[in-house]
Amino acid sequence: MNQKAVDTYLHDTSGCKVQSIPGSHVRWSGRASYYTHKSLVEGLLGEGVAPLTERIENLFRSELEDAVPISSEWTYEWDLTDFLQEHLSSAILQALYGPLLIRQDDEFISKLWKYDNGIMSLMRRLPSWMVPKMYRYRDDLVDSIMRWHHQAVQLSESDIRGTHGPQPDGFDVYWGTTMMRDRYKTLLAMDGQDPRSVASTDLAFIWATVTNVVPSAMTLCTQVFQDNSLAEKIRTESQQCLQPGTELRFDMDRLTTTAPLLLSMYAETLRFGVQIHIPRCSPYQPLAVGNGSVPAGKMAIINTAIAHTDEDVWNTAGGKHPLDTFWPQRFLINPFDNESGPLKQGTTSPLSSPTQNKIREMSQQSSSSEGVFSTEGLDGSWIPFGGGQHACPGRLLAKRIMLSATAMMSTMLEVELLDPETPVKFESPRFGFGVRKPVMEVPFRVRRRIQH
Ligand code: HEM
Repeated sequence: MNQKAVDTYLHDTSGCKVQSIPGSHVRWSGRASYYTHKSLVEGLLGEGVAPLTERIENLFRSELEDAVPISSEWTYEWDLTDFLQEHLSSAILQALYGPLLIRQDDEFISKLWKYDNGIMSLMRRLPSWMVPKMYRYRDDLVDSIMRWHHQAVQLSESDIRGTHGPQPDGFDVYWGTTMMRDRYKTLLAMDGQDPRSVASTDLAFIWATVTNVVPSAMTLCTQVFQDNSLAEKIRTESQQCLQPGTELRFDMDRLTTTAPLLLSMYAETLRFGVQIHIPRCSPYQPLAVGNGSVPAGKMAIINTAIAHTDEDVWNTAGGKHPLDTFWPQRFLINPFDNESGPLKQGTTSPLSSPTQNKIREMSQQSSSSEGVFSTEGLDGSWIPFGGGQHACPGRLLAKRIMLSATAMMSTMLEVELLDPETPVKFESPRFGFGVRKPVMEVPFRVRRRIQH
């Protein structure tokens, strides 16, 4: 962005609520935080999330159908990370931003991942002569986004009958979603902005949309497919969440609430993998934190990984499952196992009545389930999406994407890791700015289970 456009963001101390933060006198046309926040909350946390998830699910199913032909033969793939980066990112990007965006450049998705891989060199502000490729990827991506905006504006204007424009479910073929169409107009009208600065802001959003959720889905799938008995259980749980009479359409309400092992593995994936700095700054008043206070205008940073590995809070079953390892059942409370549950023994937290009822039911029926999923008592300790007004606006969508992608992979496909004995290693080259990713390729073979 040019400096004039950046200054609007830098000088906006007004916060994201309608009422400005006391002491701030930013005029309405400079309130970047308020406008972007409002549009994200309406677009990602409102009614639109259900049809958006359905579009992602449909697109991902088609991607898998194309990638894995109907046959009893195995298809061999080099790397599960690459596979999901290609197919899941494509589904998410098309559902949110429409088909025009990725048509601007055949390599849009691969450039986005290359940009993400080198993001730390930009965060450290290395000059372009030191990392010329990174600057090129970023500029190419911004150029593609500008071309998409330009085309979407023109096509929307020429579509007088509105046949392809905004639909009642929030879909817009040119912009992907009405959220993106309205966001473009709103951002462009703000002080100091121009088409390039709006494309820059959209690049940040597009980056945030895929670069945490896709590697997290990958980690979840790897953990599932690394162990045949886990894969079988996840398949059974997922099948119980299919919409009646369908083979591959999930009832999202059931999937997000009634599949205990899948939910535990989802929560553990985020506990284990998310290593994001959550920044907070109170511009005019000191900020009370615990027994201390952060002076006005100074930045406080909370890191999710530190909270996620707090030995005083988390259960390791007497050291059998250290916090730097992945324990699929960590979030399951089993009435027959004193060492179960996410909280360290001795850490008491009153459970809600629904959870208590489920546990009672389980102990009476000696049910085959491994336990009752719970995150209760973990406020401030399990914070993969941050918290408060600025908590990740994509959190509902992220959960649905991770659960449905894993459910779909295990129901529709048979996946075998080619080297299951070697545990996948993860590293944190982007500590503070994202999630852990595997440092090695995860080769696998795959074939269709459901042949249609
Ligand atoms: C597993 C997936 C994801 C994780 C772990 C994650 C994590 C986070 C975290 C920790 C924050 C900072 C929150 C805070 O300051 O309290 C954040 C912000 C944000 N996330 Fe996510 N996120 C994920 C997926 C998504 C998705 C799918 C989208 C979009 C569809 C998204 C869009 C955003 C945006 C726009 C912000 C900035 C919000 C603001 O500053 O008001 N995220 N995310």
